Amino acid sequence: MLRVTGLIKRFQSEQRADLAAVDDVSFEVETGKLLTLLGPSGCGKTTTLRSIAGLEEPDAGEIQLGSSVVFSRSRGVSLPSNRRRVGMVFQSYAIWPHMTVFQNVAYPLEGSGVSRNEVRKRVARVLGLVGLEALMERPAPFLSGGQQQRVALARALVAEPEVLLLDEPLSNLDAKLREQMRIELRAVQQRVGLTAVYVTHDQTEALAISDVIGVMNAGRLVEHGAPSEIYDRPRSRFAAEFIGAANVVPLSDLRAEGGKARARTPWGEIYFLSNGLTTPRSIVIRPEDFQLVANGEGENIWPARLEQVIFLGAAYECRLGLSGTTLRAQFPRSAALSAGQQIYVQVDFRRCIPLEE
Ligand SMILES: Nc1ncnc2c1ncn2[C@@H]1O[C@H](COP(=O)(O)OP(=O)(O)OP(=O)(O)O)[C@@H](O)[C@H]1O
Ligand SMILES: [Mg+2]
Repeated sequence: MLRVTGLIKRFQSEQRADLAAVDDVSFEVETGKLLTLLGPSGCGKTTTLRSIAGLEEPDAGEIQLGSSVVFSRSRGVSLPSNRRRVGMVFQSYAIWPHMTVFQNVAYPLEGSGVSRNEVRKRVARVLGLVGLEALMERPAPFLSGGQQQRVALARALVAEPEVLLLDEPLSNLDAKLREQMRIELRAVQQRVGLTAVYVTHDQTEALAISDVIGVMNAGRLVEHGAPSEIYDRPRSRFAAEFIGAANVVPLSDLRAEGGKARARTPWGEIYFLSNGLTTPRSIVIRPEDFQLVANGEGENIWPARLEQVIFLGAAYECRLGLSGTTLRAQFPRSAALSAGQQIYVQVDFRRCIPLEE
């Protein structure tokens, strides 16, 4: 278990003296779960990880790892990095080029009092976990990017950390390998029951790998939830637009009608569930939630013009014109579509996501 409470970190730099790189961030990761911190460049992800690892000294807050408080500003506790039982994997794998795979992975155990026999056993076990046992004696420079990444992971695991911290560990790999490695990483994390914090600015990666996603913006944790919760029910425009594609449409003339909410959009009436919001100001429609329908009769059905149709292989990505408003839509490729066509589209009222902004 990892618990971060009220974490604040300010860097002394002239331009942003009053701004905190990490601004009152709190979260908890249950044992065996993977939390992803997701957010744009500069939002404070790395600083949060480095604070947990003991590589930055926060200005305020508390960090608890398992049963021990490793940092607490108010209680004057700050354990050095090497006593925190964290494993770290960075974007640059930082493996030693003059060592073999075995030596790289055994490195964190050196001088720890673990017997040579035990070191052999532990290294063999973690190399087995990442599928590298056959390459144990190979010098590090003779490894592919994906294999180097696995060595870095094995090295982070060999000391049996309480929490594994991963900072964009896959971003140096090409797209295909990145997809494969994130599946492997997730499998290892689940098999071992590791508690992990994963940092990325890639929303697809975050959706694929996480038990919980924490969305960060400008030093703050703005939203926090299971991947499907964040995708289906974002509470802020920032999260709605950062994760997945979103049409954000302004609303006016809000009314309640038969258990649903009803409001005006720039092109017509829309029905939706207000989800407890008293004054929704806009509605989010995901591109894939538009359905093609045969005629204009019914709730949340509107005439539209296909302004642009882009074939993506598995689907069509389209620009839809609805009385002067252009929206993004995605349709299955089974529909025969071409630009200029007049169609009718429908959106299920349960798929419309109201926002208070
Ligand atoms: N050592 C430092 N000295 C001064 N400012 C720093 C330092 N490290 C980070 N910052 C600033 O703190 C903010 C957060 O940086 P951080 O590296 O945590 O962002 P990040 O979310 O990891 O971004 P990226 O996705 O680009 O890696 C940025 O504005 C950055 O410029
Ligand atoms: Mg970073």
